Amino acid sequence: MTEPMKAVVLARFGGTDAFELRDVPVPHVGPRQVRVRVHATALNPLDYQIRRGDYTAHVPLPAIIGHDISGVVEATGTDVTEFRAGDAVYYTPRIFGGPGSYAEQHVADVELVGRKPGNLSHLEAASLTLAGGTVWESLVTRAQLTVGETILVHGGAGGVGTIAIQVAKAMGARVITTAKAGDHEFVRSLGADTAIDYATDYVEAVAEATRGRGVDVVFDTIGGDTLTRSPLTLADAGRVVSIVDIARPQNLIDAWDKNAAYHFVFTRQNRGKLDALTTLVERGLVKPVIGATLPLARMGEAHELLENRRSYAMHGKVAIDVAGDTVDLPPRLP
Ligand SMILES: NC(=O)c1ccc[n+]([C@@H]2O[C@H](COP(=O)([O-])OP(=O)(O)OC[C@H]3O[C@@H](n4cnc5c(N)ncnc54)[C@H](OP(=O)(O)O)[C@@H]3O)[C@@H](O)[C@H]2O)c1
Repeated sequence: MTEPMKAVVLARFGGTDAFELRDVPVPHVGPRQVRVRVHATALNPLDYQIRRGDYTAHVPLPAIIGHDISGVVEATGTDVTEFRAGDAVYYTPRIFGGPGSYAEQHVADVELVGRKPGNLSHLEAASLTLAGGTVWESLVTRAQLTVGETILVHGGAGGVGTIAIQVAKAMGARVITTAKAGDHEFVRSLGADTAIDYATDYVEAVAEATRGRGVDVVFDTIGGDTLTRSPLTLADAGRVVSIVDIARPQNLIDAWDKNAAYHFVFTRQNRGKLDALTTLVERGLVKPVIGATLPLARMGEAHELLENRRSYAMHGKVAIDVAGDTVDLPPRLP
């Protein structure tokens, strides 16, 4: 009989007090699965969207949620040849496909699991899996961004945006990004060539920055009317990739003029994307950005930080130290 493990359980849909730290059974390992000692996880907006009840049909309660893991393999199924006990790995658990990462141990299908980059801490590696995988799928697989092209990355200081800027630069693109004025120095430090204050009109600013030509790719991480307005920033045959659900019908008539293509991405999990990211990370081209760290038992506070990130001087991800008790909080903005 295995000892139980600690997990943060979502007991009901609601506020940041909806979590309970509980002892739960360690899951069984199937033939093509690995059991991982979780060292770190990280938060994504999907986590607070689930917590507050946006996905009730997909998440039966009580639930262990969470979508990023970095840790060490402890046990392998009978048909696993890719990894051994002791290997450091990182991955995103299958979204809406069973228990998530807010726990001391996790069992995953081996196809989802990648070798952790050697030059990252567990906290950094956990901060990369879902955001990085989404960026890879959006920029490489779908938009097929190429050397010398120009991309507009919305939300450059956020979890996804910080990685998108770095991956786009690694691909040889010119990067224009939107962020609040106080974050411009930071997004430039990641490689952005031009920063636009999101409180101003980005359509005008893009026209100025590209001398009227427009960008080849828009990466929409912010939603709202971005699908409608993106063609106004696009060059001919430009592409728009959106990772934000369309909350309302939008008029795409301006896309016609530009021969534009639209891609909608709900990220899928697989090892291939992680291996590609590992290569970029180990060459020093991409480094995850952590804006705050808390231990597993303080999950409610971690959710409050991400959900209200505009009130804090915070860049990149909120990471969770599962194996330790690191506390590193961003200052509140005046
Ligand atoms: N479809 C998928 O597979 C997928 C995968 C990952 C994420 N997502 C979605 O993508 C979105 C972004 O995720 P994330 O992890 O990057 O979130 P995040 O870490 O909370 O970052 C969001 C960033 O966007 C900035 N922002 C907010 N409003 C803006 C605006 N009008 N113009 C420009 N920037 C703005 C924020 O800046 P401030 O801090 O100044 O507000 C923040 O830096 C979320 O809606 C998430 O659910 C979807």
